[in-house]
Amino acid sequence: MFRLLEDSATDTVTVRIEDREYDVPAGISVAAAVLLCAVNKLRNTPVSGSPRLPYCMMGICFDCLVSIDGVPNRQACQVEVAQNMTIEYQQGAAELQQRE
Ligand code: FES
Repeated sequence: MFRLLEDSATDTVTVRIEDREYDVPAGISVAAAVLLCAVNKLRNTPVSGSPRLPYCMMGICFDCLVSIDGVPNRQACQVEVAQNMTIEYQQGAAELQQRE
């Protein structure tokens, strides 16, 4: 569905989305990486459980909430991919842990 522009950068990083690794262009957002990798959901809504993917790509809709490197409720469209980043689906409303 989504593809890179012909003149896109060639540097890549490896990210893990659920149980698969993907090589994606360095410097793109996690949301863009998810769409590029044709992942079919990032989270399920807390009320109906319906699947969601990034929508606005600019930090407004919160449809892209995901767990990144073990931290839930991250906006995938606001975070840049990094080497060996782990991205996991978020099921419903995630609890944030208090820092000690
Ligand atoms: S896609 Fe809308 S807030 Fe991230």
